[in-house]
Amino acid sequence: MAAWKGIIHAYGDRMNISKSVAPVTLCEGNTPLIPLPKLAARIAPGAELYAKFEGLNPTGSFKDRGMTTAITQSVADGAQTVICASTGNTAAAAAAYAARAGQMCVVLIPDGKIALGKLAGAIAYGARVIAIDGSFDAALRMVREVSDRAPIALVNSVNPARLEGQKTAAWEVCEQLGGFPDWLCLPVGNAGNISSYWMGFSECPGPCRCDVCPRPSRKPQLLGAQAAGAAPLVTGLPCPNPETRATAIRIGAPARAEQALTAIRESNGQMLAVTDEEIFRAYHLVAETEGVFCEPSSAAGLAGLHQAVQNGTLNPEGKRIVCVLTGHGLKDPDSAVAEGADIQKVEANVDALLRGLNL
Ligand code: F0G
Repeated sequence: MAAWKGIIHAYGDRMNISKSVAPVTLCEGNTPLIPLPKLAARIAPGAELYAKFEGLNPTGSFKDRGMTTAITQSVADGAQTVICASTGNTAAAAAAYAARAGQMCVVLIPDGKIALGKLAGAIAYGARVIAIDGSFDAALRMVREVSDRAPIALVNSVNPARLEGQKTAAWEVCEQLGGFPDWLCLPVGNAGNISSYWMGFSECPGPCRCDVCPRPSRKPQLLGAQAAGAAPLVTGLPCPNPETRATAIRIGAPARAEQALTAIRESNGQMLAVTDEEIFRAYHLVAETEGVFCEPSSAAGLAGLHQAVQNGTLNPEGKRIVCVLTGHGLKDPDSAVAEGADIQKVEANVDALLRGLNL
């Protein structure tokens, strides 16, 4: 098998980005589609359930797909500095790819509201990290204006080059399944990812060269899940003070709102709100039943699926369902330890250990 060289190498001829420079890549993409039969029995009986585990990308989240394209485009455009607002994962990805491109990277984060592993990444990759006393939404407004007023490239998903990379995940899912899934479930924050998946599915089959999709066949229905405290796309109301413990999706004014709602409508899908309790239940369940450790926000798609099955709006029987697990669990060690911590202390001898284990 030929060595995997990243998504631009694999799919660049179907991406609307500059080809004038060599791709800036960390060999992202090609993430596994992991069967979840035990979880299916619990939350979606009768379904063939899979996780597209995007936490296995080089910086630990799906953001690497959009960042290889955005940074490559910014290099082609001559940018020496890039900037983004972030709830953490975009910051880490931007920092890594900018480091590879020899660019300076500035990241704006909501103070105290990003998970430790994400901050660690941004710092390790050498970004200039700036914390603001405000939400992601405020940070995004600021970086948009900064990139208008100064020669700095904006690499949030308002940048179309981001979507060109992120849409490749849809093609991988089709290739791995040998066709479209019936449903694709995923968390929604700034709404770039759901918009990208719909772009990808809409461009496939056709330009798709996977040669396995039954054509014509029905594109998947999309299920987007927002955190209940940050769910403007569900309520239809402004959300000036988003709140959720799933900090990656703590966003009140999604930049790609219109595109996401169009994707839901065109796919005959649904956008729903899941409580933190539902998110964390799914987060523990997928780790404990299937050995797949994602970050809390990533479990929102699973929680949404569970909710939709329970309320009867999604019949799982005989369906192929893919849940996108957007980030790795190690991104957020505090949630893992605080939430599931059940650490027993025993004296450092075998008798005490056997007693402690009731053996
Ligand atoms: N899951 C994770 C782990 C994320 O980090 C994000 C977004 C999402 C889901 C939602 O994706 O914004 O395209 O709808 N994180 C951004 C960031 C906002 O700054 O890292 P979306």
